[in-house]
Amino acid sequence: MYQYTAFDRQFIRHRAAQHRDQLERNLAGTLSDDEFRPLRLQNGWYVQRYAPMLRVAVPYGELSSAQLRVLATIAREYDQPKKEVFDKAIGTQATWGTTHLPVGHGHFSTRQNIQFNWIPLAKSADVMDLLATVNMHGIQTSGNCIRNITSDELAGIAPDEIADPRPFAEILRQWSTLHPEFAFLPRKFKIAITGATEDRAATAWHDVGLQLIRNADSELGFKVLVGGGMGRTPMIASTMRTFLPWNQIMNYLEAVVRVYNRWGRRDNLYKARIKILIKAEGQRYIDEVEAEYQQIITVDGAPHTIPQAELDRVSASFIPPALAEYAPVASKKIANSVAANRQTDYQRWLKQNVAAHQNPALRAVTLSFKRLGHAPGDADADQLDTAADLADEFSAGEARVTHDQNLLLPWVRATDLPALWVAASHAGLARSNVRLLTDMIACPGGDFCALANARSIPIAAAITERYQDMDELHDLGEIDLHISGCINSCGHHHSGHIGVLGVDKDGKEWYQVSLGGSDGSRLSGAPVPGKVVGPAFDAGEVPGVIEAVLDTFRRHRNGRETLIDTLKRVGFEAFKTAANSARLSDRLDNLHLLPKANGYARDAQEA
Ligand code: HEM
Ligand code: SF4
Repeated sequence: MYQYTAFDRQFIRHRAAQHRDQLERNLAGTLSDDEFRPLRLQNGWYVQRYAPMLRVAVPYGELSSAQLRVLATIAREYDQPKKEVFDKAIGTQATWGTTHLPVGHGHFSTRQNIQFNWIPLAKSADVMDLLATVNMHGIQTSGNCIRNITSDELAGIAPDEIADPRPFAEILRQWSTLHPEFAFLPRKFKIAITGATEDRAATAWHDVGLQLIRNADSELGFKVLVGGGMGRTPMIASTMRTFLPWNQIMNYLEAVVRVYNRWGRRDNLYKARIKILIKAEGQRYIDEVEAEYQQIITVDGAPHTIPQAELDRVSASFIPPALAEYAPVASKKIANSVAANRQTDYQRWLKQNVAAHQNPALRAVTLSFKRLGHAPGDADADQLDTAADLADEFSAGEARVTHDQNLLLPWVRATDLPALWVAASHAGLARSNVRLLTDMIACPGGDFCALANARSIPIAAAITERYQDMDELHDLGEIDLHISGCINSCGHHHSGHIGVLGVDKDGKEWYQVSLGGSDGSRLSGAPVPGKVVGPAFDAGEVPGVIEAVLDTFRRHRNGRETLIDTLKRVGFEAFKTAANSARLSDRLDNLHLLPKANGYARDAQEA
């Protein structure tokens, strides 16, 4: 894991102290709410539908067990609303049926961050101090700046890796943090980076996607994609460079972001992302970036060229842990065998949740945070503590947040798999559903988010409840189901094999369903947005629509073919017809009516 330097530590502590001072002045009435707002947002403190939301940055998804324990403490002691705040929220919920407002939780996001939904603002400084004890913070998790840089959850351990992307992600983190020129971009800016042949980081869906590759001379460099994004105009990023030498990446990104900063549409929030600029300007933008890049490397003297010594220094932080650091379980008196009557479950877990590793003696194991009774990606305090214990026991003290909102243990001995399965099962984290239907992505939706048109969590819950039979789930095979509560697309509905999008109609919750989207992974094929099957469905109809789509899949499926492959082979029409014929059949009546958001939308826009 990356070892933060004394500089990092001092910087984060200083930020926490600065926030405390701002909060105290705000509470004393000498710093107005309007003055405080942009300052707190710069540290990840938003105000949402009912309460403040904190977004904590997890650079490229890496979490130590010590960090997980601090996150558990925050969930347990601080993610607790005042009674009147919660009563008010529940009061609104009571008018819509089932309550889905978990407290005491962290929520893993698709961009490898973690969010908390209930921390009272008055306690925010204490939380920042706690985070700082383990080098964590919320800097640049909000606002129109370069956000947390995400990566492949298997970075540094994937057998299909060309080069480890983490040292580059870390160098780019340092470059982009408080970069004075890029603090007020036209809109948020998201970078993802992968070093493997399979794209597990959805790079083509980002403002900038970086793919480490080798050229014909075996030199290392980047394929640079620019202008991907979701929202109301889903766009796949364009290739701006097929090969850029690795040491030029910062010089080149300076040019990419500088021209965007200069030309981006600040006059229109909906046209401000770089994807719109590239759509509008095309070759003119590309030429301007090239001219700017030439200026930077010739006239300016290529000031951001990465020296080999610097790459070596940063890379040294990512040296794999020595196996001796975590003794095999055999020496710790933990049972390391699976009972005969649990073998089916265990074998399924090996198949879905365990991935190969560069070191043949090791495996990468995903702990599933997709289970009945919890929103996708939600972890309560005990589960965060348990994940920390499992990381210590089995994975050299390291875990990673995955793009699919789970946690991955990257350094597990193959010989320890039975013991890990037993321990994770006890904690409810060994469900063998990774990449299956119930391993869905969902945003917080209307339960928490002030921009929502509809709730995501009850839809996720209804589908999870319907597909509890593990035989059926495994038989259906690998499926990406992605749910967003509005067109901002935080739940990546565009890239789901099945996408569900909350839309606003008559003040009620409605959902558009799309099919055939891809995030660019090996399972899904070339990245592409899904196609909408028709007019929106009422909330209660959605589970039936999913069922109709899956029944159609079963009817047309060849052998063990996946849903996405059957869809591509058979075509969209058969599935579209099936989805629409499920209207008004089999509806669930407890999902209805989302009250309109309550005036905090200004903060939400910054998210
Ligand atoms: C309740 C808190 C949240 C709010 C208010 C919020 C708000 C937003 C907004 C306004 C955008 C669109 C920005 C634009 O296109 O210019 C956005 C994009 C995005 N959000 Fe969220 N978000 C929230 C939580 C989350 C969570 C929990 C996740 C992950 C599960 C997430 C992941 C994303 C991603 C990946 C995008 C980029 C989509 C794209 O490519 O355009 N957000 N969010
Ligand atoms: S997709 Fe919409 S509802 Fe969901 S978190 Fe994003 S802004 Fe909120």
